[in-house]
Amino acid sequence: MTTSPTGPLISLTWTDQETGHQGHLVIDRLVRGVSSGGLRMRADCTLEEVTGLARGMTMKEVLHYNPRGRYIPLGGAKGGIDCDPRDPAAYGVLVRYLRAVRPYVEQFWTTGEDLGLTQDLVDRAAAEAGLVSSVQAVYPLLDDEEAARRRLADAFAIDVDGIGLDELVGGCGVAESVLTVLDRAGVAHRGTRVAVQGLGTMGGATARFLARAGLRVVAVADIKGTVANPAGLDVEALLAARDGHGTVDRAALRAEDRELPADAWLTADAEVLVPAAVSYAVDTANQAGITARWIVEAANMPVVPEAEALLAARGIAVLPDIAVNSGTNAWWWWTLFGDIGADADEAFAYTRRAMRALVDRILARAEAEHITPRAAAHALAADRLPVVAERFGSFR
Ligand SMILES: NC(=O)c1ccc[n+]([C@@H]2O[C@H](COP(=O)([O-])OP(=O)(O)OC[C@H]3O[C@@H](n4cnc5c(N)ncnc54)[C@H](O)[C@@H]3O)[C@@H](O)[C@H]2O)c1
Repeated sequence: MTTSPTGPLISLTWTDQETGHQGHLVIDRLVRGVSSGGLRMRADCTLEEVTGLARGMTMKEVLHYNPRGRYIPLGGAKGGIDCDPRDPAAYGVLVRYLRAVRPYVEQFWTTGEDLGLTQDLVDRAAAEAGLVSSVQAVYPLLDDEEAARRRLADAFAIDVDGIGLDELVGGCGVAESVLTVLDRAGVAHRGTRVAVQGLGTMGGATARFLARAGLRVVAVADIKGTVANPAGLDVEALLAARDGHGTVDRAALRAEDRELPADAWLTADAEVLVPAAVSYAVDTANQAGITARWIVEAANMPVVPEAEALLAARGIAVLPDIAVNSGTNAWWWWTLFGDIGADADEAFAYTRRAMRALVDRILARAEAEHITPRAAAHALAADRLPVVAERFGSFR
């Protein structure tokens, strides 16, 4: 079974009358009348990209289906605005986009930050566009809306060593995926080398959790290029030196750290690569330089399919985005539906348990069926979609 044999349920493109920038919204499917998926902003964002991401969200939701949990998976959706987030006009475009898609946000589409946007910015723009919240469509599904909203607001107010809990849970899940694959392979955490592309919400949190687990972060890339140190970078110093877009102030580098070209993170001497920035970062040409054993997808669609096939032939495994980076989305719902409280330790423990179980299951299936982890994750999602659809329907 495919997720949407006839294409997405809703697919639209909006044009900003003031600037000409375009924005897209794709709702892949609804469960109980509601879908979930972040909103991204980047120059050249296309409807095709948003369509793929919306489908990925359907699978991300269903992979976390727990028949005993309070949170029931929603459908998948995604929004994308074709505009450089650093453009001075960007905020105005964001507000006008949200105003245009407001009926969808009110009824069908719960959204939040994704590439190029922070949750603070999405919240501010949503309020300006006349919305109660970017996730208000899910409120009718909650038992006690007031308590649930308070719990989520309390969770968002939590800060752990200078970073908000909402910006940490996703990376916690990515890091646990890395640790799970290392454990299955019998590779020690301590000293295992990792290179990360992107030091924003996902890459930054992933780097923190991996460094704290004893791994050596030998390279990180941001929009300005790669910084590297084979002996290990000072991750906390880099995190503290980021601006609001996840760009590291190079003044924070130590004398032994090196500034290298944009693609250098890919060819770093490391066991694990974590692409946590843009889609299509690993292609058929640059994959040839990769020597790592595992690529763990924190970003959405960072490895193009043809490159993945070439990597698989060389014995390099790609852990797929739909599982690896699903922690943030699931955490919102675990918190809102009441599976967990507004507590960082509880959130990290729950995220770790859920991610380890999911990644273990995917890797076991991949081994048993001699398929890639991505094919195994898709097979798992395909098994669960009809179960969820049958039990909860799309509009019930
Ligand atoms: N934020 C979330 O909750 C979340 C959840 C799941 C998946 N994702 C995915 O993770 C990826 C990153 O999202 P984010 O929210 O962390 O973004 P972000 O905007 O917070 O950070 C992006 C980082 O990538 C860097 N970057 C941007 N373009 C680059 C380039 N061409 N080369 C190298 N570095 C570049 C930026 O400098 C920054 O450090 C996206 O694919 C997003 O869809 C995000």
